[in-house]
Amino acid sequence: MEYRINFINNSYRRFAKAHKEELISAFWDCLERGALTLREEVSKFEDNLANFVGTKYAIGVNSGTDALFLSCKALGIKGNWNYLLERVYAGEITIDEANKLFEGDELITVSHTFIASIQCIVNCGAKPVLVDVGENELMNPELIEPAITERTKAILPVHFHGKVCDMDAILDIAAKHNLHIIEDAAQALGSSYKGKMAGSFGDAGCFSFNTAKLLGGFGDGGGIVTNSRDLCEKLYLLRNHWNMAQTSVRMSDFPTPEIVQWAWKSRLDNVQAALLNVKFKYYRDLLVRRKQIADMYCEGLKGLPLKLPKYGEGDVIQEFIVRIGNEEEREKFKKFMDEKGIEVLIRETTPNHKVKNLYLDHFSLPVTESISKDAVRLPTYPELEDSEVDEIIGAIREFYK
Ligand SMILES: Cc1ncc(COP(=O)(O)O)c(C=O)c1O
Repeated sequence: MEYRINFINNSYRRFAKAHKEELISAFWDCLERGALTLREEVSKFEDNLANFVGTKYAIGVNSGTDALFLSCKALGIKGNWNYLLERVYAGEITIDEANKLFEGDELITVSHTFIASIQCIVNCGAKPVLVDVGENELMNPELIEPAITERTKAILPVHFHGKVCDMDAILDIAAKHNLHIIEDAAQALGSSYKGKMAGSFGDAGCFSFNTAKLLGGFGDGGGIVTNSRDLCEKLYLLRNHWNMAQTSVRMSDFPTPEIVQWAWKSRLDNVQAALLNVKFKYYRDLLVRRKQIADMYCEGLKGLPLKLPKYGEGDVIQEFIVRIGNEEEREKFKKFMDEKGIEVLIRETTPNHKVKNLYLDHFSLPVTESISKDAVRLPTYPELEDSEVDEIIGAIREFYK
């Protein structure tokens, strides 16, 4: 269906149009020099990212999904859960047998997130342990300690929708139990907690630059930030076949170790980095515009029988999510907005732990389940015109007439 006001597509179309010359010149410069793989554009992007978040190092990778997975690998997260689940899927053993045969680490995260936050744990062979979120849609820190066992190796907080989790509480728990912290900051580049940026609290902070994200690129992209030189070195090696021999990494600072290990290939494309470097210049302004749009929604939707998000200091606006009340009402709302030519998004209708065959349905997460029944995302990209935001507000007010 073609929408007059779409959920995201116009964001990158309009950004590209507004900055056409600069983007084409960055792209052409790479082509002319044949600078396509791990060249200085990637290094420059890594410097931009590290400076922005306030960490010593940043490592460009292929996606937010890989950022999480490689961070877990670099921190030594391991186990046989992925192998056992493959045997379950092949019908060789039952899930009860798999549970008895499991050896490895557990990581604590949430179900109220994109699947990649959980997938990285399973792909390392470890078991995900899911805790509920609070009404703010963030990991409820009170539920973390009861979920810790002797297998627990790390906490993976997800800074959802541009809001940072309660990091004081999470850092305290991690210190007390000697656990790593891997932050999923895919939706939170630029959000802060008590003046410190999302991604800079834990051992590693993971970002996504896929098209729909705050710093949306032109395709896929991801990044990891860290203050640990050891972790940075390991990540450089893990993303590139355990090989430092590329210009983007500082070869003299980080020579390839003599002993080689098996690794992966997950590099931020050089052309993508060049385009992201252009967008990064405008990033702070784009965040300001997102906040203006959120303020327009908050003002314009006041008094209606839907629940509006609450924003605190330091939050950035990845998406503007309203709670409609129940599933039936949400269906009617979506249909009404479709008829108006306005695309709103309904995701997480089935929370991750309820998806069949992922073997996570033993977790009881009432807040997560209730959010999945009535959350609706409104278009919030910075390239929206004021008149479009007004039109969306007008349509919603008409729905409630
Ligand atoms: C919370 C969260 N974590 C991880 C990811 C994975 O990022 P990517 O799509 O770049 O792999 C996403 C985005 O899709 C996300 O929203």
